[in-house]
Amino acid sequence: MLRTHTCGELNMAHVGQEVTLSGWLQRSRDMGGLTFIDLRDRYGITQLVFNLEVNSALCMEARKLGREFVISATGKVAERSNKNPKMATGDVEILVDKLTVLNVSKTPPFTIEDNTDGGEELRMKYRYLDLRRGVNRRNLELRHKMGIETRNYLNGQKFLEIETPYLIKSTPEGARDFVVPSRMNQGQFYALPQSPQTFKQLLMVAGYDRYFQIVRCFRDEDLRADRQPEFTQIDCEMAFVTQEDILNTFEGLARHLFKSVLDIETGDFPRMSYDHAMKNYGSDKPDIRFGMTFTEINGLVKGKNFKVFDDAELVVGINATGCSEYSRKQLDELTDFVKKPQVGASGLVYIRVGADGSIKSSVDKFYTPDDLSAIVAAFNASPGDLVLILAGKEEKTRTALGTLRLEMGKRMNLMQPGVFKPLWVVDFPLLEWDEETRRFYAKHHPFTSPKPEDIALLDTDAAAVRANAYDLVINGTEIGGGSIRIHNKELQKKMFSILGFTDEDAADQFGFLMNAFEFGAPPHGGIAFGFDRWSTIFGGGDSIRDYIAFPKNNSGRDVMIDSPSAIKEEQFKELGIRKV
Ligand code: AMO
Repeated sequence: MLRTHTCGELNMAHVGQEVTLSGWLQRSRDMGGLTFIDLRDRYGITQLVFNLEVNSALCMEARKLGREFVISATGKVAERSNKNPKMATGDVEILVDKLTVLNVSKTPPFTIEDNTDGGEELRMKYRYLDLRRGVNRRNLELRHKMGIETRNYLNGQKFLEIETPYLIKSTPEGARDFVVPSRMNQGQFYALPQSPQTFKQLLMVAGYDRYFQIVRCFRDEDLRADRQPEFTQIDCEMAFVTQEDILNTFEGLARHLFKSVLDIETGDFPRMSYDHAMKNYGSDKPDIRFGMTFTEINGLVKGKNFKVFDDAELVVGINATGCSEYSRKQLDELTDFVKKPQVGASGLVYIRVGADGSIKSSVDKFYTPDDLSAIVAAFNASPGDLVLILAGKEEKTRTALGTLRLEMGKRMNLMQPGVFKPLWVVDFPLLEWDEETRRFYAKHHPFTSPKPEDIALLDTDAAAVRANAYDLVINGTEIGGGSIRIHNKELQKKMFSILGFTDEDAADQFGFLMNAFEFGAPPHGGIAFGFDRWSTIFGGGDSIRDYIAFPKNNSGRDVMIDSPSAIKEEQFKELGIRKV
């Protein structure tokens, strides 16, 4: 063994023992007759000491070592005169009498510290050095713990972990597929799974009534801080269950993770309908760490010759409590914020309620003091509050106000790190109408069951049909989503036809599933959680990239291995595909 202990475990109890440690040289300092080296491994940092008077040759050798050299040092554990309470091993040091250089290192292109001087691009290129930093190590440790605890919980609930294939057939689930050419079947392609959805349903038909898998999924979609082209799901399915059973089982998983990973006890998760979420928060994934819910004021503002409000489908606002003292500049900033194309509002109306109760607004010209008092009352605004109002098309205005609400939440420090507010959003609509293509899309996916009481509406008012679908949301992030599935061939066929599939298309793409439904498919449903997102939320991070060992950048590139990359002419030929 090249070590007797790790760099994170020695303390006063080891004083006097002869030990050998191995690791990377974090930093070294020469102080007169003494040389100190911080030796680092996965477990921590331990201070090595070389004394010029005791062993000058060894000390001189130590002075030649550079950052990130891999060394092994043997010596006695001694109590430090200058203790460092911030380090787990800060009470002791090693008086080294034997040193072996196991490998040399070039000077790393950035410092291997939590607060590094390396930019994102450089750190991604040298990701193996970046991963030596404590912050990244802690993130991967947290992720590991979540994976283990997920398996513990689901195993305890009799779930079987079963692998499903990665080379499958293209299935429309919202995003584009990554495709893989087949050499043995020229001109044909596999698709990488966007999720194991159809396979887990087939496992239910096969009788494996509780399935899970921590599984890689692939989606060729535009990337954001919470999206990667390959990401990991905790994918689950159960047979002989109702929506209630699923919510309870997986609320159990979430509670177990909160307790075992973060030591946080959570009560029952609140449930909110999709409609309520949209009307009150302008989002189907509301951050409920704070209120600031919407107040609709169409009835109070129309017919007073203010064209913007008169022409609007919806006039709606929020009360930013205690913000009446916002300066002109701050209000201009907010106006610019809502007018950004990503937010899409045409302007912002404000009403300040001064500390003395006086009311001042950006629409004083159109509304009498009595009108304004009535509006202020509708918002329950008190002296010191600031009412912010948007107007326009219904859906767009709600979404824009939802974005402004989050911005105000940030500005008002209402999104406290370390506070977790999980909730279930339920009763999603089954379908979504797309004006551009003039057709319905499945809001969740085409296998989601309509609520039994809404099935009759499929023929008369499909847009009003609600689904047995649900999302788990934590602090405004969609952590997971699932549904009760259709398990009846005729209903599944009908669903495909509403989604614009011809019978041939449906048979071609999903014949295998519909055939399976003819062989005793049990009622079933499930859910999948975004494992990267969940780890990121628990770790308090901003980007899922920080919780993935080897992530892609925003252009979908792995800059370390330089992928994607061109392939050789012979490979094109072998695969039977033409180069364009
Ligand atoms: P859905 O598409 O909602 O459902 O995905 C489930 C969860 O996966 C996470 N997620 C992502 N995470 C990182 N990068 C991405 N590109 C990405 N896309 C999705 C989200 C999301 O909530 N088969 C269904 C589940 C089911 O019905 O059981 C599905 O995949 O956290």
